[in-house]
Amino acid sequence: MKSVRIKDKNFKLSITESEILEKVKNVANKINKDLEGENPVFLSVLNGAFMFTSDLMKYVNIPSEISFIRLSSYCGTESTGCVRSLMGLTTDIKGRTVVIVEDIVDTGLTMLKLLDILNQYEPKEIKICTLLLKPDKLKVDLNIDYVAMSIPNDFIVGYGLDYDEYGRNLPEIYTVE
Ligand code: PRP
Repeated sequence: MKSVRIKDKNFKLSITESEILEKVKNVANKINKDLEGENPVFLSVLNGAFMFTSDLMKYVNIPSEISFIRLSSYCGTESTGCVRSLMGLTTDIKGRTVVIVEDIVDTGLTMLKLLDILNQYEPKEIKICTLLLKPDKLKVDLNIDYVAMSIPNDFIVGYGLDYDEYGRNLPEIYTVE
């Protein structure tokens, strides 16, 4: 089994690139059916979602826009899901269907705050699309429209997800040993 070492930790391969791409295609196909005629704005949440967004959008074939945002999720020195600001919302989403594209919904706190912030801009509708969901860690009530994969509550890296900012470029997903 393939494994990688990042800084002080060993990770073993858990989801191959071809498995990921198949799941990403499935999600894109659902979006193509559900949102036909909606001209949605895909709002990718940096940094983690960069690779998922790139692959997803290759298979989305309805007219749509892509935009990127970066959240500041720090209160003091702790990342606690306390999203304080939204930087880089450059698209007017008023009256638009928005699809939030995330790499992972963990506790769900980031997503909940993001929904609050985006709703202030009066979109027509907000859909949530995440590559990964950890159902055992979810703390809040969220209606997640598109989930490519549900995974156990292990620390993972790769395909956009980082360990201390490293490993985002791995084309597969690895689990800590
Ligand atoms: C990750 C991920 C989500 C959030 C999920 O972002 O991209 O935004 O954590 O966690 P939650 O459901 O518990 O709130 P992170 O803050 O690590 O930034 P990154 O995307 O730059 O890696």
